[in-house]
Amino acid sequence: MAIDNLAARGFEAGAAAYEMARPGYPDAALALLVEEFGLGDGMVVCDLAAGTGKLTRRLVETGADVVAVEPVEGMRTQLAAVLPGVEAVDGTAEAIPRPDASIDVLTVAHAFHWFDAPVALREIARVLRPGGGLALLWNERDESSAWVAEMSRIIKWHERTVSRYQHVNWATVVEDSGHFDGLQERTVAWDQMMTSEVLGERVRSISYIAVMPLPERERLVAEVISLVSRLPEPFPMPYTCRVQWCRAL
Ligand SMILES: C[S@@+](CC[C@H](N)C(=O)[O-])C[C@H]1O[C@@H](n2cnc3c(N)ncnc32)[C@H](O)[C@@H]1O
Repeated sequence: MAIDNLAARGFEAGAAAYEMARPGYPDAALALLVEEFGLGDGMVVCDLAAGTGKLTRRLVETGADVVAVEPVEGMRTQLAAVLPGVEAVDGTAEAIPRPDASIDVLTVAHAFHWFDAPVALREIARVLRPGGGLALLWNERDESSAWVAEMSRIIKWHERTVSRYQHVNWATVVEDSGHFDGLQERTVAWDQMMTSEVLGERVRSISYIAVMPLPERERLVAEVISLVSRLPEPFPMPYTCRVQWCRAL
């Protein structure tokens, strides 16, 4: 099944920028997954929509046996360069290339909004063993910081369809599927240390900006970089990492 056209084009074009500039996942988020699901040796984990492997590399650190599923070739190429020992397979959330009941824990980091949710949840339930864990993670820029809020205004973030996931009640979506118990949630505040060069790549890695004509894209990059011109480098870019988890019935 084909993925959303903007995701396909945007993540192919922005794959290198994505790897350079997008945030990873904080220790506290990983500790939560270890505590809730017992992640570690002997566990089979699927990182679905793995991208360049920002979460995958943290899952590998737990000692679990990790498979990454990612439909965009450019993103898989970046992942393979960082994690040559990890199996990275072409596949989508709507047709996960794994056998029934073969996965202990499935993670979706900052990607569930791209899925056809009812179809994906049915597929995730199929590949998870009964009682297996599902975790959704989201890294949201913390707009209580003035320059971060201004960045969102410049790139018209809140006017774009892709930002709507921030207002979706994912607990209801997951529960309505009938395949999982109640979604629990915890948030972790953390900082990604940045330079203005990395911030430029951060802007270029956003799907709808990655596909803009060059002059328009670079005008946005320059405007965003001007926001941090007085900050000593490296400077923090604040994020809230939202971790949501549940178990297959
Ligand atoms: C914002 S990136 C997140 C990547 C990575 N999980 C991370 O946390 O950095 C979203 C990813 O979802 C993938 N994606 C989009 N639609 C998908 C689908 N229907 N099935 C699986 N992956 C999809 C994109 O190719 C992209 O790599």
